[in-house]
Amino acid sequence: MARELLFERTTKSVYRDGDKAIKLFCKDFPKAEVLNEALISARIEEIGGIHTPITLAVTLDENGCWAITKEYIEGKTLEQLIKENPDKMEEYVEQMVDLQLTIHSKTCPSLGKLADKMVRQINELTEVSQASRSDFLVRLESMETDVKLCHGDFQPNNIIVTTDGTMYVLDWVHACLGNACADAARTYLLLCLIGQEIADKYMDLFCDKTDTDRRYLQQWLPLVAATQLTKHRQEEADLLHKWVAICDY
Ligand SMILES: Nc1ncnc2c1ncn2[C@@H]1O[C@H](COP(=O)(O)OP(=O)(O)O)[C@@H](O)[C@H]1O
Ligand SMILES: [Mg+2]
Repeated sequence: MARELLFERTTKSVYRDGDKAIKLFCKDFPKAEVLNEALISARIEEIGGIHTPITLAVTLDENGCWAITKEYIEGKTLEQLIKENPDKMEEYVEQMVDLQLTIHSKTCPSLGKLADKMVRQINELTEVSQASRSDFLVRLESMETDVKLCHGDFQPNNIIVTTDGTMYVLDWVHACLGNACADAARTYLLLCLIGQEIADKYMDLFCDKTDTDRRYLQQWLPLVAATQLTKHRQEEADLLHKWVAICDY
C-alpha cells in the first residue's frame, strides 16, 4: 500500500503506511530531539491509563533522516471534529478537560520538571530585555510547583478520537511534571488561536471541575506565553507577544 501523507510542516511529515504512522524528520533535525520524543512517548506508555499510540521503531534512512514509527490510530483529530460539528463544541471541550484531568492525575518520576524547563526557556528568550527576563523569573519563583503529569502541548490537534469515541493523546515531546494550572494556561492560549469562545469555555470548565480560581490560572498566562514563544511557532507569535506584553513593562 502506498504511503499516505497525513501532516506536513517544514521540519517533519507524518505518513500512514498501513497500520503504522511514520513521523519523518528533515535531514538536519537534531538526533537528540528525535530520541527524546521517542523516550518520553515510551515512558507515557509505561504509566498506563492513557490511550496513546505505541512507539514501534526509531530508524535512520539512507538520506540521513530520522523517523519514529508508531501504531496508526484510525479516527479524526478533535480539531477536525470541532470544525465539522461546531454545535457540539461544549461537549468536546468537556471531554478534553476530563482527559486532561486524567493526565494530571498521573505522575512519572523520570520526566523533567516544568519549573526547571520554564527557567531555561525564559533565560533563552531573546524577544524581551534582560530586565524583563529577570522579572519573569521572579514571578515564576513565586508560583507553586507540583509533580503532576503535564502534556505541555495539550490541544485538539494532538487528540485523535476513534469511531467508538476513545481519545488517543499524541505528541508528548513537551511532557513534564509540574503545576496543572500552568498546563491548563498553555491549553487556554492554544485554544485562543482557534477561537475566544472555545478558549473561554475551556477555562470555565477547567476551573469549575478543579475548583480553581480563574485569577490564579490567569496569573500563569504571561509566564506560559513567554516560554511558549521559545517554540518559534509563527502562527502563535502575535497572540503570545500580546500576553507577554501584559507582564513586560
Ligand atoms: N499515530 C498516529 N495515528 C494517526 N495519525 C497521527 C498519528 N501520529 C500523528 N498523526 C497525525 O499527524 C499530526 C501531527 O502529529 P504530531 O505527533 O502531533 O506531530 P507534531 O509534533 O508536528 O505536532 C497529528 O495531528 C495527526 O493528525
Ligand atoms: Mg502535534
